[in-house]
Amino acid sequence: MASGCPFGHGAAAAGDHVDPISDDGVYYAEYLGLDKLLTAQHPASAAHGVEAHDEMLFIIIHQTYELWFKQILHELHSVIQIFSQDRIPEKAMGLVVHRLKRIDEIQRILIDQISILETMHPLDFLDFRSFLTPASGFQSFQFRILENLLGIESKHRFQLQKTAYLGYFKAEHQELLRKSEHISLLRLVEKWLERTPFLEFEGWRFKDEFRRTVLQMHQADRDRVSRDAHSTEEHKNLQLQMIDQTIEQFESLFDEEKHAEMVAAGTRRLSIRALQAALLISLYRDEPLFHVPFQILTGLLQLDENISLWRFRHTQMVHRMLGSKIGTGGSSGYRYLKSTTSDRYKVFLDFYNLSSFLIPRSHLPPLPLEAREQLDFYFTMAASPAAPATP
Ligand code: HEM
Repeated sequence: MASGCPFGHGAAAAGDHVDPISDDGVYYAEYLGLDKLLTAQHPASAAHGVEAHDEMLFIIIHQTYELWFKQILHELHSVIQIFSQDRIPEKAMGLVVHRLKRIDEIQRILIDQISILETMHPLDFLDFRSFLTPASGFQSFQFRILENLLGIESKHRFQLQKTAYLGYFKAEHQELLRKSEHISLLRLVEKWLERTPFLEFEGWRFKDEFRRTVLQMHQADRDRVSRDAHSTEEHKNLQLQMIDQTIEQFESLFDEEKHAEMVAAGTRRLSIRALQAALLISLYRDEPLFHVPFQILTGLLQLDENISLWRFRHTQMVHRMLGSKIGTGGSSGYRYLKSTTSDRYKVFLDFYNLSSFLIPRSHLPPLPLEAREQLDFYFTMAASPAAPATP
């Protein structure tokens, strides 16, 4: 009897005879469903009796994307499941970092493989393009599920031909899409951030300490500009204005009303508390207890940025392929796609903008001693204080 897997990792001892095609063993092609996979390419040009060589590449590259989308969704569902818990075990946080990293690696491949498609000349594309209408990548339901699960809301989407995106899908896909609209990693991460310990710690409040420090820093800047004997009054006023604008920007971190206005305008997504927590984690990321949360913030930002990079690469490729022609899905083509590369489609927009609020380490308000000890895991021979659970 054959033992071991079809990929050569069997348990058979060296020198044992292994029957490679035994009836009760696993067979490579069957395990991978290759009969279905390799017969799932049906060029429309062939069906029309004018087979276009490059259509095979066009089909296979789309299928490859869809397979990778499936794997990304598989990873993302597990991350969402972890974040759905009220209290997330430390071990699970490591898993989140690991799975976000895997998604990142897959996305890099997805961005890179656009260049394979670019080996197809626009003239070669024209050999079969007319057979594809009205099908379009716009109808990639897995891509839309990915967007929904991450937290893109319908109100953020640009519409094609005044029709909501759902109108481009058949009933069975609409159902999947509607379900995915109710889940948002952004909102789950927001809740997790809101639970971050050390935003308040026995009378010490991060937002008050940070605000005081920032105001002191800017007051020092104002004093320096005002004292500058080599500057003209006009130049001084300009500099003071710029400092005041920066102060105002910082104030939006503490002012609920300003923050709400920014959320309404779409320039912020997270709650003010979640935003402050993300800032705390980023500023004090050197503290051991914040290492993993910081990696998670970075991983989510990377994932979001990769989607933007993919959108950009796809848009450039489409410009090259179609010029200013309209898309098979009925959009304005390149012009429509260019609009999707804007901030509107960035889910973790606040993580990009966090950098506006970073200040040099040397100016950071010190954390209270007890908080520092807890953040340090405190591994000593003496009884150590229990490390608090991760947010
Ligand atoms: C010759 C190659 C391609 C061309 C000319 C092309 C063209 C277009 C155009 C014009 C649109 C806008 C909708 C429309 O009017 O149809 C679009 C959307 C889209 N395409 Fe492609 N595409 C190509 C390859 C791909 C590939 C390989 C993928 C991988 C899955 C893909 C995925 C998408 C997605 C997800 C959208 C929706 C983007 C959004 O609305 O944000 N496309 N494509």
